[in-house]
Amino acid sequence: MNKFTYQNPTRIHFGEGQIAAITNDIPKDKKVLVTYGGGSIKSNGVYAQVEAALADHQWGEFAGIEPNPQYDTLMKAVDMIKAEGYDYLLAVGGGSVIDGTKFIAAAASYEGEDPWNILAANEAVKAAVPLACVLTLPATGSENNMGAVVSRGKDKLAFMSPLVQPIFAVLDPKTTLSLSPRQVANGVVDAFVHVMEQYLTFPANAKVQDRFAEGLLLTLIEEGPKALATPDDMDVRSNVMWSATQALNGLIGVGVPQDWATHMIGHELTGNYGIDHARTLSIVLPAVMQERRADKEAKLLQYGERIFGITEGSVDERIDATIAQTITFFKQMEVPTRLSDVDLDASAIDTLVAGLEKHGMKALGEHGNIAIADSRAILEAAL
Ligand code: NZQ
Ligand code: ZN
Repeated sequence: MNKFTYQNPTRIHFGEGQIAAITNDIPKDKKVLVTYGGGSIKSNGVYAQVEAALADHQWGEFAGIEPNPQYDTLMKAVDMIKAEGYDYLLAVGGGSVIDGTKFIAAAASYEGEDPWNILAANEAVKAAVPLACVLTLPATGSENNMGAVVSRGKDKLAFMSPLVQPIFAVLDPKTTLSLSPRQVANGVVDAFVHVMEQYLTFPANAKVQDRFAEGLLLTLIEEGPKALATPDDMDVRSNVMWSATQALNGLIGVGVPQDWATHMIGHELTGNYGIDHARTLSIVLPAVMQERRADKEAKLLQYGERIFGITEGSVDERIDATIAQTITFFKQMEVPTRLSDVDLDASAIDTLVAGLEKHGMKALGEHGNIAIADSRAILEAAL
């Protein structure tokens, strides 16, 4: 196990009715800007609960943060903060609203040339407006991590800063009941792949991280299909929500190698073709497993045995069966597993590879040995 320093400072309020906790968790002297997306929170009762919780606060709102939040939209909120003097942000929505609000928080305190450089030039964030969130879509883990992904046109880029990690996050599984089956499935698959990016690498003799990761994978495989089949089951919703939060809050990733190639290749699919984030991952991950089977052999065998009970056959047969089981799970979740499932063919690969090159994604994976040609091979394996 590698050495590490770990702290997760986000306070979690989990369970039905917990939106009320906002009242005491945001200081009364703060002027709060509530940020949200396209309006789902207006029709499912979440907005009304936030409104009630903020009855004694001074607050305003910024609506319209779109899925895969766009720089131009977010900069409008930055202008509003500067004009009206907000000093606390409350993001209410899914990963896009939370990520977008993280960027707003950093951009509102930015003193350089162009806040896009936080993403494009990896400029360190020096200050940010404090923020918290109410999560309505279990998927990204953004509610309790320091990362955010923002798009500007076809460029979809990520940044990280402890200054934008939410101070607290409300996780009320009941808010997820209004999600479409597509978004439920996307969330389960995104969380699953977050675990895989931190687990399916090479052994580091990190038994706690491995077994915790396997617990999350087993839970998502068990509960994910139930979330589609019995959508009103609150126990299922609760387990999915807590799994997604735990999948990307840093804990399973401490002291171990991490991959993230699937995500970086997936971002090009979203940036260029508008495919939902999770659906890019279910297309790319099986091809990464296939193409990187030599690098990942020991962990592929461990994953196959501990998650799917695969113990028979040669190494290659076991790995083949393990990849097939992973695809079966994705199919159960009704997400695409090949580029052809989203009507893309070989002609898309040049565009995707050019995007990876432009964004400096030339040494991906846990060994940093996935060069542009290897990403091309992964995309060809995903056709
Ligand atoms: O905008 P509204 O009207 O709220 O509708 C949203 C949106 O259309 C809807 N929705 C959310 N909660 C709902 C709901 N509809 C009904 N009932 C509810 N309770 O769902 C749609 C999708 O929302 P979005 O926030 O885009 O989805 P998700 O949470 O999957 O976030 C995806 C974004 O997060 C980034 C992705 O790249 C993508 O941009 N990621 C962020 C990460 C992080 N910060 O750590 C890690 C991830 O790997 C991921 O990259
Ligand atoms: Zn993701």
